Amino acid sequence: MSETQTIEHDAKARIAAAADLAALEALRVEFLGKQGSVSALMKTLGKMSPEERQTKGPEIQALRQAVTDALAARKDVLEAEALEAKLAAETLDLTLPAPAATRGSVHPVSQVMDELAEIFADLGFAVATGPEIEDDWYNFTALNMPESHPARAMHDTFYFPDTAPKGGKMLLRTHTSPVQIRTMLAEGAPLRIIAPGRVYRSDSDATHTPMFHQIEGLVIDKGIHLGHLKWTLETFLKAFFENEDIVIRLRPSYFPFTEPSVEADVGFELVDGKRVLGGSGDAPGHGWMELLGSGMVNRRVIEMGGLDPDEWQGFAFGIGVDRLAMLKYGMDDLRAFFDGDARWLQHYGFSALAQPTLSAGVGERA
Ligand code: PHE
Repeated sequence: MSETQTIEHDAKARIAAAADLAALEALRVEFLGKQGSVSALMKTLGKMSPEERQTKGPEIQALRQAVTDALAARKDVLEAEALEAKLAAETLDLTLPAPAATRGSVHPVSQVMDELAEIFADLGFAVATGPEIEDDWYNFTALNMPESHPARAMHDTFYFPDTAPKGGKMLLRTHTSPVQIRTMLAEGAPLRIIAPGRVYRSDSDATHTPMFHQIEGLVIDKGIHLGHLKWTLETFLKAFFENEDIVIRLRPSYFPFTEPSVEADVGFELVDGKRVLGGSGDAPGHGWMELLGSGMVNRRVIEMGGLDPDEWQGFAFGIGVDRLAMLKYGMDDLRAFFDGDARWLQHYGFSALAQPTLSAGVGERA
């Protein structure tokens, strides 16, 4: 056996016997490292005569290649064995329950707005929207409240310094009623819309926050009268409170944009000091609770909406959404609605996965 054959034989045996990757690496250094035995043989080539190099050169090259190949082959085997051992040692118990995913919840205001949109959709109402930063003209003037109209003082308005395109100052809308004007101007008649959204007034206590939510309703058509308004309010309130015993009372009121104007009260019964909706408020132990403002759309508002009031009539109503949520789901402090306290939301919020439907009422609580 030549010297190179001896080295190759010995190297292959030891490589095949290497127990792990660390041992294999030690062998690589021993043979092919800078001070390695095969590397040392390579260095002898330089000192050889050309004839000797002709025969020895290929032999030494072949040795180096054989050792390199043997190392690589053994490395593949050891790596595969290491993976097998790891897979055998690690067990995955697929029967363990997965950790609970944290789930957000739907805010009661969003939930109630969805419920309202659904109820009114069944009555043929579409959803309309308008800007929260509003022009004085849409918020007041076109709703029959010209500048210096005393009713403007009823709204504690947040004004911007900017002059509005249609005169006056820009402002944060104080109610959703400007959407009445915008929709009439944009779509004409007939109309059946609700307009839910944020409104702003400079006011703050347990039942008032500077930002709150309203939903506006507007119907414009031919031959519309107060009976249509009363039926719509009754139907919607029974569906919303999921209570057929709801009784409403229309009480004369005043809004510049409706004529006549009526406030709708809902009858309740005092049970253990708590108000339970249902029944006439005139019965013994009962009372009336003010719920919303409404009326027949003022002729001047129909004109401001670009329509002929001799041809088109309508009714409108506006309700506080937050108040509806408090009444239906039994919360008592309006300010908690907007504190952003995650614990409150977990308690009062709704599951995002349950679908509210009119027929099924609200979905499962979160
Ligand atoms: N916009 C009135 C308010 O905010 C409510 C209302 C709307 C009254 C529509 C009548 C008709 O108080």
